[in-house]
Amino acid sequence: MRSYSASDDVVVLADSIEVPGLGHLPVNSFLLRADEPVLIDTGLPASREEFLHHLWTACDPAELRWIWLTHPDRDHTGSLAHILEAAPQARLVTTFLGLGILSIEHAIPPQRAFLLNPGQSLAVGDRSLQAFRPPLYDSPATTGLIDNRTGTCFSSDCFGGPMPDQHLALAEDVDAVSPTDLSAAQRLWATVDSPWITDVDRRTYTATLANLPVSDLPLVLSTHLPPARNRGDQLLGMLAEAPDLPPFIGPDQAALEAMLAGFAPSAG
Ligand SMILES: [Fe+2]
Ligand SMILES: [Fe+2]
Repeated sequence: MRSYSASDDVVVLADSIEVPGLGHLPVNSFLLRADEPVLIDTGLPASREEFLHHLWTACDPAELRWIWLTHPDRDHTGSLAHILEAAPQARLVTTFLGLGILSIEHAIPPQRAFLLNPGQSLAVGDRSLQAFRPPLYDSPATTGLIDNRTGTCFSSDCFGGPMPDQHLALAEDVDAVSPTDLSAAQRLWATVDSPWITDVDRRTYTATLANLPVSDLPLVLSTHLPPARNRGDQLLGMLAEAPDLPPFIGPDQAALEAMLAGFAPSAG
């Protein structure tokens, strides 16, 4: 894990996880230094100790006001319970469904929650954050957000891609990745994380792209990609072609056994 500044007011808490057969998936959370500081997602469970060290180095627990959970998948909720306990002023921003899914594992006092739907905004002092549903997502509770002061877009799982190595997964700018590798990674991730994309009605889907509350994308911060600057055309182009991608089909048992046989010591 490492942390670094992506802009004047955003700290990236950057982690990654190796997914066999796919690559090194970035797993980022973000601290937005608004008047009322906002943490966006809470990292991997396996990195909790390190994550909390980086977070509390960047922010006093007494100052943290909001924890915006883009959705309750395990790679986003790793330190949630610990942060709620350590930061008594912080309220959890999620949806009704998000809170319901979290309740399977966590007892969240209702007064600590703040329910916000796509299309609604959250005032955080010097700016407001508009919630939106990213075009690609893997949870019914997903909400991304756009900072109306800077235009920074926090896109949750959308735009992600497994990187060829850990160094690139932790890079401070996606420019570090070759265009060919980046395109392949984002296309693969689109069909892995949002398998429904290959079955959608193209006209309806295209309309969701036209309704994105952004005309340009100066800085896109995906959970699963290094920061992307001034890449609106490339990112929107990737989204537009996503329905035409081949569906992802994971290795089956025969493929697993073939792989394991490849690891066995040879008799000769
Ligand atoms: Fe997810
Ligand atoms: Fe994720």
